[in-house]
Amino acid sequence: MSQKPFYITTPIYYVNDVPHIGHAYTTLACDMAARFARLEGRPVLFVTGTDEHGLKNAKTAQEKGRTPQEHVDLLSENFRHLCTISHISNDDFIRTTQPRHIKAAQAMWKALSDSGHIYLGKYEGWYSTRDEAYYAESEIADGKAISSGSPVEWVEEPSYFFKLSAFGDKLLSFYKANPDFIQPKSRYNEVIKFVESGLRDLSISRTTFNWGVPVPGDEAHIMYVWLDALTNYLTCVGYPDENATAYKTFWPEALHVVGKDILRFHAVYWPAFLMAAGLPLPQGIYAHGWWTKDGQKISKSLGNAIDPLQLYEIYGLDQVRYFLMREVTFGQDGDFSHTAMVSRMNGDLANDYGNLVHRVLSFLDKQLGGVLPALEPLTADDIALLNQAQIMLPHVVALMKQMGLSKVLEEIWSLVGAANRYIDAQKPWGLKVTDPARMGTILAVLVDVIRRIALLTQPIMPDASAQILDMLNVEEHDRLFAAYNTHLSSGTQLRKPICVFKKWEDPDAS
Ligand code: MSP
Repeated sequence: MSQKPFYITTPIYYVNDVPHIGHAYTTLACDMAARFARLEGRPVLFVTGTDEHGLKNAKTAQEKGRTPQEHVDLLSENFRHLCTISHISNDDFIRTTQPRHIKAAQAMWKALSDSGHIYLGKYEGWYSTRDEAYYAESEIADGKAISSGSPVEWVEEPSYFFKLSAFGDKLLSFYKANPDFIQPKSRYNEVIKFVESGLRDLSISRTTFNWGVPVPGDEAHIMYVWLDALTNYLTCVGYPDENATAYKTFWPEALHVVGKDILRFHAVYWPAFLMAAGLPLPQGIYAHGWWTKDGQKISKSLGNAIDPLQLYEIYGLDQVRYFLMREVTFGQDGDFSHTAMVSRMNGDLANDYGNLVHRVLSFLDKQLGGVLPALEPLTADDIALLNQAQIMLPHVVALMKQMGLSKVLEEIWSLVGAANRYIDAQKPWGLKVTDPARMGTILAVLVDVIRRIALLTQPIMPDASAQILDMLNVEEHDRLFAAYNTHLSSGTQLRKPICVFKKWEDPDAS
């Protein structure tokens, strides 16, 4: 049976910000899910990119003496670089200034307009350029948007409107019929409450600047940056060509992963646009929480933005990838601190996983020249551990369906813990003289469990897992989950073990 395709997207990032840990977090979460789905053998399309229009960019470009295009070309590279350095496995990198996207955004506009959902009016109200969002009087206090703290300005200009008010009931019945559409549940409830409170028509064009996608048929207007940006999810599958292979394969299989701050755009506006355009809706929207630093909101003005590249240099890439996905329940807010990072790095990785691998493979290398013994005869204890390893795969597959990323890692580490306890109970080191055959079986059991753990950790720590699988001489095609329940043949020559997870060393300690 052919496997269900999986289309996963990050939000496209505003180029004017320097990439920080918050951006890396969303992208890493998607990377973990995309890699996992590929290991399941599913066709995957994983896309990230940059959101490049809007007044902010036009203004900064002018200040810097660049054209807006030159400016965004330069800044977009920061995000591309972040992907490369973070070993992100994205299949595409979309930029909203690309011709393919401008074509898709204009086609979207035409679809909304042809179906009678757009009318010309005048916008009078509050707008925040920082958030690229319109706010109602009730959402403002002291000249700032209450939700984000961003300054707002009064705007009066001719504007096209999207008849969002006509979609309240349709959206509510859609949410009710698809209770998993918005996750986690608390966010689902929040969106329902917002829609129930009534939707106003949405201003979807601007006339006071021109750095954006021209409105088809009325070039005095450019498209509202969110209508432009949200359409990127369709651009990447070849829209407006609904016969494109990518479109046919991946739309509407999409899961949009977003931060909680931009949930409304994805869970309300986007489905309404799609309904109005007569297009199918994505599978779901997952809203994750926000990272703080030592308990404080991360922001440019506080100057406490954490540079992910610097973190990789200090702690190691896979260590940071693991920490970010493990430390906080996916969906909740989390706090970054050096202490928490080091505790995961030394505890979960160096002591638990690293030591398990190292002590087993070094002992096997020393005692048996790295030649894998037979996985028999098995005792009840051996079978119990092997069974635990075997059921771990269907278990984590089920958790991944809910984007339970931190939970998946917690579960894999319960197997790491079980393997370590098994060593302590079986004491293979003591058997080399008294019962070398039993010692061999114990080591074979452990190697099999380590192999499965390394298969499972590939999505989160691709490099470290590959090093472990290399040491075990696992063939490339046996690194897919389809090979999870196979075994390495006895007699396999393992490679010389190396230390995969280093401990944190304080650079100031002498
Ligand atoms: N350009 C829009 C998205 C358009 S998608 C059609 C945008 N860009 S953004 O660069 O401001 O934010 C992108 C993502 O980064 C959001 O999901 C946001 O939640 C996430 N984060 C930014 N700071 C964050 C933290 N401190 N912590 C976690 N994620 C945060 O919004």
